[in-house]
Amino acid sequence: MSTPSRIKRITAPELSARKGKEPIAVLTAYTAPMAQFLDEHVDCLLVGDSLGMVVYGLDTTLAVTLDMMINHGAAVVRGSNHACVIVDMPFASYQESPEQAYRNAARMMQETGADGVKLEAGVALAPTIEFLAQRGIPVMGHVGLMPQSVNTYGGFRVQGKETAVARQVIDDARAVSDAGAFSMVVEGVMEPVAREITNVVPVPTIGIGASAECDGQVLVSEDLLGLFSDFTPKFVKRYAELGNQISAAAAAYAEDVRARRFPAAEHCFGAPKTDGAEVRQLKS
Ligand code: KIV
Repeated sequence: MSTPSRIKRITAPELSARKGKEPIAVLTAYTAPMAQFLDEHVDCLLVGDSLGMVVYGLDTTLAVTLDMMINHGAAVVRGSNHACVIVDMPFASYQESPEQAYRNAARMMQETGADGVKLEAGVALAPTIEFLAQRGIPVMGHVGLMPQSVNTYGGFRVQGKETAVARQVIDDARAVSDAGAFSMVVEGVMEPVAREITNVVPVPTIGIGASAECDGQVLVSEDLLGLFSDFTPKFVKRYAELGNQISAAAAAYAEDVRARRFPAAEHCFGAPKTDGAEVRQLKS
């Protein structure tokens, strides 16, 4: 009996070892087809809970559930075989206790086949990261602007403009790294804060709205593809305008249907041939 070939993905320890080397490219993916398009080009696919806003039209990420993340995480794993797949733990699935976090993160790992999980966590939840990391679950931290805390900030705001907040974010990053996170997202912070974090932590920092002073970058794919909204945040670079293309394609299709130009003869199964060939084709 031959041994099934193992799919060779980038692992969490391999990503971690990239600190200070070639910058790490990360994009979000929520579905299998999108994962297929992105997989060969990036080092890591992040199944972010931003899917609550991007896919489900929610105002914040707070209503995203563990089941939603598991379903999307499993789809992204099925659609990829190269990039390291990290899945966000959603709001209220890990904050209660290390035990709750482990139970849910273990389920995430078992049911998705992902390579690790991401937690929005600083000093307060560092013990939870340690609990998971010591029990076989690779953890990516997330410091700075933590969207699951939107209600305590009173809105989505860049962090670290005031010295005290900047210090807190740097302390968070240190605590997350000391607890055993293999890397961390640094979101929405002032450039000097990102620089200091990247200098002081021994694991890669992955920035979003955090300047070029990070070991890697992540963007929401729909933002860079022009698929999400008309508003482009300052930190996003749009590489395509697929939303416009989708809209134009839908308009052309509707016009063709109304003018009876679609379907044309080449899109139709004609009358069955006497030898049944057309019917066989339809079934195959
Ligand atoms: O939820 C998400 O997509 C994220 C990235 C934007 C870092 O956390």
